Amino acid sequence: MKVLGFSAGGTGRQGNVDRMVKAILDKCGHDAEFVKLTDLNFSGCKGCVALCARPQVCQLADDAQPYYEKLKRADAVVLGTPVYMGTMASTAAAFIERFFGYRHVDFPIAGKPFVTVVAGAMQIDSAIAELHRVLGMFQVRVLDMVPYRSTVPPCFRCGRHKECEIGGLYMMLGEAAKQLTITQDMFRRWEDDPATAAAIDAAAAKLQKIVPDEPRERPATDFVWHIYVHAVYGRCCRDRSP
Ligand SMILES: Cc1cc2nc3c(=O)[nH]c(=O)nc-3n(C[C@H](O)[C@H](O)[C@H](O)COP(=O)(O)O)c2cc1C
Repeated sequence: MKVLGFSAGGTGRQGNVDRMVKAILDKCGHDAEFVKLTDLNFSGCKGCVALCARPQVCQLADDAQPYYEKLKRADAVVLGTPVYMGTMASTAAAFIERFFGYRHVDFPIAGKPFVTVVAGAMQIDSAIAELHRVLGMFQVRVLDMVPYRSTVPPCFRCGRHKECEIGGLYMMLGEAAKQLTITQDMFRRWEDDPATAAAIDAAAAKLQKIVPDEPRERPATDFVWHIYVHAVYGRCCRDRSP
């Protein structure tokens, strides 16, 4: 059993998202690999649709490319992102955008168990909704979702919160933000939040129970989509394939 864990958490440190994804991998009891997306050099989809259609996997050659084949073969996936500007981080969005190869003629990752992890505060619910909306396009099975309301705005690090009336800290606290002295204990850690720790354990336990080649639930819409893809894209992809 192979579980892949991806994190779009902040670079240069092990933030909450990284540690949450790693904790789920460690506790799930399967062979696991952690991938820090923000340390990879890669872009979103560049629209070379004809190339990913036949192999049903992204062909764009960069640091992320090997993981699309691995993901296709993995038994389960953990995918974590911080909330950036009210939605998932663009690093996570770019990574998922290239799932497009999994959406040609067939859905090769349909039913694959996913656990999602999201950390942030403001608009965390819309970030989660967007993440799940996009994953839904590939018919994966979201086994569980672990949110962590970290309330750690980027201003905690920038050092100019006493003069700023724009950033997250000011949005959260108003004028009181200007009086604040930032101390290490304000960098909240999910490990200190019993509800999040329990949610991590629960997600790992669900992953532990998955069995290889579980029968995949194929929604009825598959059939309609299949016909649509053949009619609209099939010809175009055949014509443009190398
Ligand atoms: C560019 C940027 C935008 C952000 N936007 C939001 C936001 O809209 N809402 C929010 O609650 N937090 C926002 N944050 C804060 C992060 O979501 C928060 O610090 C998160 O815990 C970071 O996770 P990490 O420590 O795993 O990197 C933002 C941070 C950055 C760097």
